[in-house]
Amino acid sequence: MKNILHVISSPSGENSISIKLGNAIVEKLLSQYPGSTVKEVNVAKNPFPHLEENLIKVTRSAAAPSDDNDLKRSDEAVRQVKEADIIVIGVPLFNFGIPSTLKSWLDNVVRPGVAFTYSEKGVQGLITGKQVYLAAASGAIYSEGPMKDYDFGAPYLEKVFNFIGVTDITVIRAEGVNMPNMKDIALQKAINSIAV
Ligand SMILES: Cc1cc2nc3c(=O)[nH]c(=O)nc-3n(C[C@H](O)[C@H](O)[C@H](O)COP(=O)(O)O)c2cc1C
Repeated sequence: MKNILHVISSPSGENSISIKLGNAIVEKLLSQYPGSTVKEVNVAKNPFPHLEENLIKVTRSAAAPSDDNDLKRSDEAVRQVKEADIIVIGVPLFNFGIPSTLKSWLDNVVRPGVAFTYSEKGVQGLITGKQVYLAAASGAIYSEGPMKDYDFGAPYLEKVFNFIGVTDITVIRAEGVNMPNMKDIALQKAINSIAV
């Protein structure tokens, strides 16, 4: 049995490819690990605050009041990540990067002293022993070909999760969803490639 956290960031609801792909990954995980729990966090519907002055202050000060709303929300996001064994993240590619709502969620999780720390040996990740699946959706193709260097979505997330200590990361891509020759098959091709 596993604790699965499913982070949704597409604003497109039932039309979203990354949500459908994320759901398919979760279903496969549930059949692999019967009885697992799934916690869904929709950062498009319930966005996390940007890194404004108060959020920076309370998440980086030992003297921050524990009843501060920004701190409580950020702590909850961190707790959900730490409690999860497996994290499935839907990643729509928007203007070659991740949605700003997913970036805000990440900014609330990737905190010094909580997600990573600086030691004599350099930076040390504190979020260890997790598996991450990235359900990436894009209009064009980035895994190969001329657009490969333009993908700052999934590769960016891989680096951030590596930085905080997560090394077991699988990227599953529904790509070419806006291309005439790919749009009808991109999602199914991605679903068929899920190996958990
Ligand atoms: C605002 C916006 C920006 C987009 N930018 C890109 C892009 O830079 N590259 C790309 O290949 N597709 C781009 N697309 C297409 C999306 O990546 C594609 O529709 C994907 O399915 C979105 O994920 P979702 O269906 O889960 O929302 C963009 C779509 C929107 C709405």
